[in-house]
Amino acid sequence: KIIPILLAGGAGARLWPVSRDDLPKQFQPLTGEFSSYQETLRRVGDPKVYDAPIVITNDAFRFFSRRQAEAAGHPATVVLEPARRDSAAAVAVAAVMAERRAAGSLVLALAADHMVLDDDLFTKSVELGATAARDGKIVVFGLKPTEPRTSYGYIRPGTPIGGNPDLALVDAFVEKPNAETALDYLRKGYLWNSGNFLFRSDVMIAEFRKHAPAILEAAEESVAKATHDLGFVRLDQESFERSPKNSIDYAVIEKTKEMAVVTGHFRWSDVGSWDAIWEVLDRDDKDNVIYGEGMALNSSGCLIHSEGIYTTLVGVEDLIAVSTRDAVMVVPKNKVQDVKKLVDEMKARA
Ligand code: GDD
Ligand code: MG
Repeated sequence: KIIPILLAGGAGARLWPVSRDDLPKQFQPLTGEFSSYQETLRRVGDPKVYDAPIVITNDAFRFFSRRQAEAAGHPATVVLEPARRDSAAAVAVAAVMAERRAAGSLVLALAADHMVLDDDLFTKSVELGATAARDGKIVVFGLKPTEPRTSYGYIRPGTPIGGNPDLALVDAFVEKPNAETALDYLRKGYLWNSGNFLFRSDVMIAEFRKHAPAILEAAEESVAKATHDLGFVRLDQESFERSPKNSIDYAVIEKTKEMAVVTGHFRWSDVGSWDAIWEVLDRDDKDNVIYGEGMALNSSGCLIHSEGIYTTLVGVEDLIAVSTRDAVMVVPKNKVQDVKKLVDEMKARA
């Protein structure tokens, strides 16, 4: 069986004011009844395919993680990071914990803040990837790109494996290329990296030892010295904090030679910014999305997200208006990436 490990410690700054440091987007029901964290738990909830899930998140989100997992019907072991060290440290902890459970365990490290619309196609991709992962490959899930986005990793598929056109070795992986390079990759048939990784725990540990030994050491020690409190696994602070801060994509995936890619056919969004939310929700005949209480008059291509305050737009196009209990944010749809700058600036002035 595959051990699903959810990486749920990111900040999601571009979805301010809904996503906050103390409650980031993965725990917010942005598009329906459940949060993306809960949807992810449900996606990997089939006990025939998956083992019980492990969640790795920041100490600050411990009660949300547990409560939401239970509310979704998928109780999880919640592992707490005493500091933010980005995704590489979390994946190293995942590999070390899985290896302790059973040597050579299959692990599926999942982003907890994505939306997947076809869970069955996702599971098919995982099952296809598992054949390569058992053979010692780190498996990534590639998706056909639609634009030259610079916020993603790009995968160049190589020689097919095992006669299935959707499974191949990886010739190159490049994390977050610049705009020009991304456009070039788009033309050359590279795939977007969906941000989920399937691997054998011993293989991932060996690759960390080769490419990022300091992160592995910190992970091993923080797991060995972990304490248990109120049912949480609390990683040892002093050893965990020694981990360099890096993402798994830069620390290992760009460097390893042991990679395979599954081309996924599931509809996917990393719901990273407000335009992506607008894209995935149902729109009315004027291409507006109203989530919560509000109205758009003589307007088109807009998103209203309201959490209680009646929010209105009149005579505007391609605008996003978000209102919460304590903040209002308005931004043109083509400037949504700058919301992160706004958050940084507010922090700098605070
Ligand atoms: N536990 C834990 N601790 N999780 C973390 C931490 C951390 O310190 N930092 C990030 N994560 C989690 C996030 O919550 C998310 O689920 C996942 O790790 C990926 O981190 P992001 O920060 O969202 O990465 P990204 O979006 O810039 O890039 C990744 O995803 C893209 C697809 O959305 C990369 O894998 C790209 O290659 C990929 O294209
Ligand atoms: Mg992301």
